[in-house]
Amino acid sequence: MLETIVLVAQNNIVVVASDGQQQPRLTALAQTYGLTIVEQTSDDLHLLWLEDKLQLVQQSQPKQAGVLVDFLGAAATYRRKQVSIKNEIIARAVGCKNNERPLVLDATAGLGRDSLVLASVGCAVVMLERNNAVAALLADGLTRLQLASQDAWINNFIGLYHGSLISDCFDWQNTLPQVDVVYLDPMYPHKKKSAAVKKEMKAFQGFVGADEDSDQLLSVAKRVAQQRVVVKRPDYADYLNQQKPDFSLESKKHRFDVYLT
Ligand SMILES: C[S@@+](CC[C@H](N)C(=O)[O-])C[C@H]1O[C@@H](n2cnc3c(N)ncnc32)[C@H](O)[C@@H]1O
Repeated sequence: MLETIVLVAQNNIVVVASDGQQQPRLTALAQTYGLTIVEQTSDDLHLLWLEDKLQLVQQSQPKQAGVLVDFLGAAATYRRKQVSIKNEIIARAVGCKNNERPLVLDATAGLGRDSLVLASVGCAVVMLERNNAVAALLADGLTRLQLASQDAWINNFIGLYHGSLISDCFDWQNTLPQVDVVYLDPMYPHKKKSAAVKKEMKAFQGFVGADEDSDQLLSVAKRVAQQRVVVKRPDYADYLNQQKPDFSLESKKHRFDVYLT
């Protein structure tokens, strides 16, 4: 059963829901993640509740798609169908082999795309996200997934927590289940010339920020993980906290640095 724990509300972000759309799911999300429901706002960046889905939108860019978590959308379904240990370096980096599937804490869960791959390949996944708006998007995506699908793989998502391993108010020792692997993918400044990141994703990256404190994550993650910590980095990026991993696996644009614990 999916468990949600709430710690701190960070952003005073509002959810715009026009008349008649306020329903228990939205109210529960707003209460859990410290969101204020309004009918309209002058805030450029806000959450929008539209057709029973939560999305992050930018008022000044009306043509830009909203950012939402859609585990059953066309892109996610296509991605999930390609998934195999052979194809997914991330799966090998966390230690999947033969019948072994580690329990992974995705400690920088974001929009849950990497968690989706790990859950699809058969790992039990616990997600941790510190940004309240992003955690709300994830929670909404997971709820819609559970309402729409009975597939067995969705039971691999075993928890969503709002908080951070490096926040004083998050008592990870008493809150999180024991995990084999901690997976980290903090936001890294993109190269100016970097290839087409969709505009809406650029807005998302601007909203979340550069995760400047990510170096601190590594030492805590090593204490949390029973087996290994895996850090995803762009191929041009330094090691997290300048610490050389035990080994790295490389994909086209990324490196997965593996620290055995
Ligand atoms: C690059 S995104 C992760 C993308 C994710 N791997 C995916 O597949 O969608 C980084 C996310 O980690 C979150 N984050 C960064 N540092 C964190 C921390 N110390 N604790 C929890 N979440 C963190 C950010 O708020 C952001 O949503």
